[in-house]
Amino acid sequence: MTTNPEPMLLQVLQAQTLNPLVRMLHLGRPDGGVLPGYTAGSHIQVQVALPDGTSAWRAYSLINFATSANATAAPMQYCIAVRREDAGRGGSHWMHEQPQVGTMLTVQRPRNDFPLEDIAGSTVLLAGGIGVTPLASMAAQCRAQDRPVRLHYAGRSRSLMAFLPELQTMLGGDLELHIDDEAAGLNIAALLGVCAPQVKLYVCGPQAMLDAVLDQAQKLGWPPERVHFELFAAPAANDGDHAFQIVLEQTGRTLIVPADKSILDALIDAGCDPLFDCKRGECGVCAVSVLDGEIEHRDYVLSAREKSLGNVMHTCVSRAKGPRLVLDL
Ligand code: FES
Repeated sequence: MTTNPEPMLLQVLQAQTLNPLVRMLHLGRPDGGVLPGYTAGSHIQVQVALPDGTSAWRAYSLINFATSANATAAPMQYCIAVRREDAGRGGSHWMHEQPQVGTMLTVQRPRNDFPLEDIAGSTVLLAGGIGVTPLASMAAQCRAQDRPVRLHYAGRSRSLMAFLPELQTMLGGDLELHIDDEAAGLNIAALLGVCAPQVKLYVCGPQAMLDAVLDQAQKLGWPPERVHFELFAAPAANDGDHAFQIVLEQTGRTLIVPADKSILDALIDAGCDPLFDCKRGECGVCAVSVLDGEIEHRDYVLSAREKSLGNVMHTCVSRAKGPRLVLDL
């Protein structure tokens, strides 16, 4: 996994429950010193403890609402927001319940896999739920650079949408809310339909929203580089996912991939050392050659044509359509 070899030990300076689903933490150096700078769209990884006694890294976008130039170049604090995921492996629960003011956390330095392009022209940001966190920082950066920006923020209910006051103060009329239980909610076709050709779209939210946006962009004939995106969580399992067998051709091993586990995690659990990074089907690092079997592609890396060839898959998200895959591992 790509992680910085020198993590930092940071202290929880402030912890606040924003709503039943979201907890905000401010982290800083115990000596009060300056932290490494970051740009909008960056995340940090925080080490969490899981119920099975193991530890794991969880990525959280860095949140900034300050619109002054270089506001995040030498920060005194990192602000993150953690959404409680009841169907997850327990990392978010730990982040909701364990760290208190004064707790020390192991944190990787900021990294940006979702940068805002440094270009003129309008930027449209589309956030679903806690996916608002990197986009809030992008909106602040656009404001700091005097670039036109509009943030669409979608959620189920106003009471569960974090940071509304801060966003309203920062963006005023450039914030548009799409709230399921107040009005018609988010209409992706309408939203994309009114984007001028030079507009770049940045999307962060759940997988269903992202899939719908990419589908609509394709229908409208948008070139892929017009849409930048990040999933806010690991992709959820689909109903009907089944267990299957993988044969590792080079070593001759056969493994079972359970219905609720990815191929990548099955490989890790079996003591293999596969390459991976995002675990969300976005970075392409976990690609492997497939020698036999039919692939259920769920990544955002391969083109439709590449998927149709059926000889490469991304093990963090993609699965087998049938009972067996033979991988060049
Ligand atoms: S780890 Fe990034 S696509 Fe699989």
